[in-house]
Amino acid sequence: MLLPRASPAVTLDEYLAQAAALRDELDQRLAALDPGQRLDVVKGLLKDWRARLDDLQRAITAVPAESRRPAGSALNDLKRHFDEALAAYATRGAGAAAGPGLDLTLPGREQWRGGVHPVTQVIDEIREIFRELGFTVAVGPEAETEWHNFTALNFPADHPAMDLHDTLYLDEGVMLRTHTSPVQIRVLQQHTPPVRVLIPGTVYRRDFFDASHAPAFAQIEGLAVDEGITFVDLKACLTRFATRFFGTARTRFRPSYFPFTEPSAEMDVECQLCKGAGCAGCKGSGWMEILGSGMVHPNVLDAAGVDSERYTGWAFGMGPGRIAMQRFGIPDIRTLYDSDMRFLRQVAR
Ligand code: PHE
Repeated sequence: MLLPRASPAVTLDEYLAQAAALRDELDQRLAALDPGQRLDVVKGLLKDWRARLDDLQRAITAVPAESRRPAGSALNDLKRHFDEALAAYATRGAGAAAGPGLDLTLPGREQWRGGVHPVTQVIDEIREIFRELGFTVAVGPEAETEWHNFTALNFPADHPAMDLHDTLYLDEGVMLRTHTSPVQIRVLQQHTPPVRVLIPGTVYRRDFFDASHAPAFAQIEGLAVDEGITFVDLKACLTRFATRFFGTARTRFRPSYFPFTEPSAEMDVECQLCKGAGCAGCKGSGWMEILGSGMVHPNVLDAAGVDSERYTGWAFGMGPGRIAMQRFGIPDIRTLYDSDMRFLRQVAR
């Protein structure tokens, strides 16, 4: 025997009345809720209401066939109202939690998370260019012996640089290094040529801290030693560096003097501020001095235990701080060291 259909017939009016009652109940319950509640908690509280909505959906089969279309659209309206009412509740809740008068649709204020110091940016770029030219990075101690810093580098015993006025001594024969060149000696003592190293580091000099001098500053040393290395290698490498770093090939080499190189040369690059025309930044010359360089003196190779009959080499030293000042148009070197956030925000990337 067939069982009779479970649900009794429901008229359209009854159906619409049930939908309207559910809608009213939802609005009342949401209005009564504490506005700070989390949405998933609110959805949990409305579980029984959702169950009655599902019942109403199933009951649509009890509505006479010709009334199903308006009944269905009333059901859909109710579902949409549920979604909208919850969304409105959530927005109201967030606003209430964050405080009155807050517009949550505005974009947030971005916090500066810090950046790379301009001098470090310059050092990183120089490292990358020399890495491509086959140089690895080496480091040495900041507290250095007088022998590594001066004697092995062919400074005559009475050289004025060794004077107490220029050098910070820690002890008899021990000092804060005045340049990164002593690391040349340390590298050559440890490695048989071919050697190609870049040596970044901090150096110390007994100077007044003024617009153009700092008692501690960054240097980058370069050293290449091998059989058959000539001044042509020096010029080619350093010109290539300048082209890559400054985006210009206009360089010039001026004869110079260092005890540890012979011959010695300083390299200038076209002033980046005036493009060679002459300005206050380059004191009208159109050039800026970038580095000191030269062919490693045979006495230096010998002091480090490298056969100066067989090997030759070249070296350079430059100050990334000065380069950063040129690049960013910074007139006072102290700006690089006093950690003023108003300055760093502009140049730290
Ligand atoms: N050490 C020198 C200085 O501090 C720079 C330099 C390095 C020059 C290597 C020539 C070769 O001024």
